[in-house]
Amino acid sequence: MTATLIDGKEIASRIRARIAEKVRHMVEQHGVRPGLAAVLVGDNPASHTYVKMKRKACAEVGIESFGFELPADTTQAEVERLVRELNERPDVNGILVQLPLPPHLDEARVLSAVGLDKDVDGFHPVNIGRLAMKGRQPDFVPATPAGVIRLLDECAVQIAGANAVVLGRSNIVGMPVALLLIHRDATVTVCHSRTRDLPDVVRRADILVAAVGRAQMVKGDWIKPGAVVIDVGTNKIADPTAKNGTRMVGDVDFEAAKAVASAITPVPGGVGPMTIAMLLENTLRAAELKLGQC
Ligand code: GUN
Repeated sequence: MTATLIDGKEIASRIRARIAEKVRHMVEQHGVRPGLAAVLVGDNPASHTYVKMKRKACAEVGIESFGFELPADTTQAEVERLVRELNERPDVNGILVQLPLPPHLDEARVLSAVGLDKDVDGFHPVNIGRLAMKGRQPDFVPATPAGVIRLLDECAVQIAGANAVVLGRSNIVGMPVALLLIHRDATVTVCHSRTRDLPDVVRRADILVAAVGRAQMVKGDWIKPGAVVIDVGTNKIADPTAKNGTRMVGDVDFEAAKAVASAITPVPGGVGPMTIAMLLENTLRAAELKLGQC
């Protein structure tokens, strides 16, 4: 079997075109342009790249973006003060605090300072709490987990009743994606560094979401034949044949897995573009909610 490639780039580009259309309409009808504030503390190179990509994507769909780059030694009070100022700004519909924050900052307190109506990352404890409760809906769902579910839906994957295995339990991906899969009636197993017999557990997955951040950790013979594999990993490895000597790979050994799975996301071009599309969708939604359109 050769797996179908789940083309996140193409799916995300369709979603972005729809967002651009809605933004155009909002500007024409209401004279309002959605705005996203991106707060970046410190000089983590990957974070700088991600924020740049997010702001470029905003520009492409007509969402205004405001960048706030703070030095690595910014104090807790200064970051929280900025977030509170942004909560008050009428031209800012969404606030994104890029993670990770430098270690001296209390991430939970910063994320709690974001106004619920502007929590387009869905990381406010109230939104995460709602995600963890039956019958409650968060105002915003974190972008990468939302992107994973959207990819499964776009590919008409049956989630209800499926055995889903999530590798990783991070606040940004593993934990919220597991909660979303439970909401959709999957039977979910969350694996982590202390999981015993990991390959055997993964072999039971009809849907595998890999989000551990370890290059090509999941081997082809860990995959159940016909499984759907969503690879959230973005790991840089040495590649002497590449122009800059490195290339990006996921958490899954792609070449081996694609011979066994029924569908698989590539890295890059799978989940990554969906994360950005979902952030744009959340920002548009925040602006729509403010206008009373949702
Ligand atoms: N760091 C890695 N992924 C994300 C994300 O989706 N949002 C934010 N704010 N930080 C991140």
